[in-house]
Order: sequence, then structure tokens, then C-alpha cells
Amino acid sequence: MTSTNWIKLEIPSDTRNVAFARTAVALFASQLDWTLDELEDIKVAVSEAVSNSVIHGYGLQEGLVKIGASYTGPELRIVIEDFGRGIADIEQAQEVGFTSIPEERMGLGFTFMHEYMDEVLVASQVDTGTTITMIKRVRDLES
Ligand SMILES: Nc1ncnc2c1ncn2[C@@H]1O[C@H](COP(=O)(O)OP(=O)(O)OP(=O)(O)O)[C@@H](O)[C@H]1O
Ligand SMILES: [Mg+2]
Repeated sequence: MTSTNWIKLEIPSDTRNVAFARTAVALFASQLDWTLDELEDIKVAVSEAVSNSVIHGYGLQEGLVKIGASYTGPELRIVIEDFGRGIADIEQAQEVGFTSIPEERMGLGFTFMHEYMDEVLVASQVDTGTTITMIKRVRDLES
């Protein structure tokens, strides 16, 4: 039998909570058998997604960010959800170096998420919000 374990977090949109979310999800994820590098990668991906909700979703204003993490067998799933301004062009947003704040940002958040996770799914609607789903699987060392 493969049971599912999960956590849910709700945090106010505040840059101070990015480090908390990253560490909390990493602690949960560490129930699976990652290398230290992989755990660092998971932290970066979570930071990037939560930062995006705070900075872009809510424009550093008040808002709710929901974070869920779960795993079934070797598959970790992380979901970051905001109810902010949303993304008009989801493809363009994920291009390497694309940013809507070029004077301040590098436009690399999505690039890191794609680099470090096995799957990144972006669902977004303007003025409704954005949901990022990221999946990473523990590598089977025997295969
Ligand atoms: N949750 C979100 N809500 C609204 N827009 C978003 C959200 N996440 C990303 N975006 C849009 O997608 C663009 C690209 O995001 P990405 O994280 O790749 O780069 P960035 O945040 O601009 O720069 P960096 O992550 O390097 O600081 C953002 O500039 C923003 O326009
Ligand atoms: Mg970003």
C-alpha cells in the first residue's frame, strides 16, 4: 500500500514568509530520500514560486498565499496558489529572462523552477490568480 502524506500552509503575502515557506516545505520533503543538492533545489523552486506570488501576484500588497505539499510513493507534489493579478501570457512569462519588472528583476524564477523540478504546470487567469504545480520524483538508484 502506498499512502499519501501532505501538508497545507496559508501565509500572508509578505517577503518575510518566503524563507519560512521554503524551509517548511523542505522539512516536509525531507521525509523522502533526496540528496542534499536535490533538497536545495526544492528550496529554490519553492522560494521562486512564493516570491512570485508576493511580488507579482500581489505587487507586494496584502494577499493570501496557499502552499500545499504532498507525496505518494517517490513523487513529491508542491502547489503554490495566489489570488492576485494573474498572468496574461503564460508562455511568455516562462521564457528565460522574461520579466515584467526589468529594472529590478532577472526573469529567472520560472527557469529555476523548470531546471530543478521534473514538471512545472502554470495555471493562471488575469485578476483571478495563479496556481503553480511542481512535481519532483526521487530517483531510483537501482535502475
Ligand atoms: N504569481 C504570479 N502572479 C502574477 N504574475 C506572475 C506570477 N509569477 C510570475 N509572474 C510573471 O511572470 C514573470 C516571470 O517570472 P520569473 O519568476 O521567471 O521572473 P521574475 O520574477 O520577473 O524575476 P526573478 O524571478 O528572476 O526575480 C514575472 O515578471 C511576472 O510578470
Ligand atoms: Mg520570480
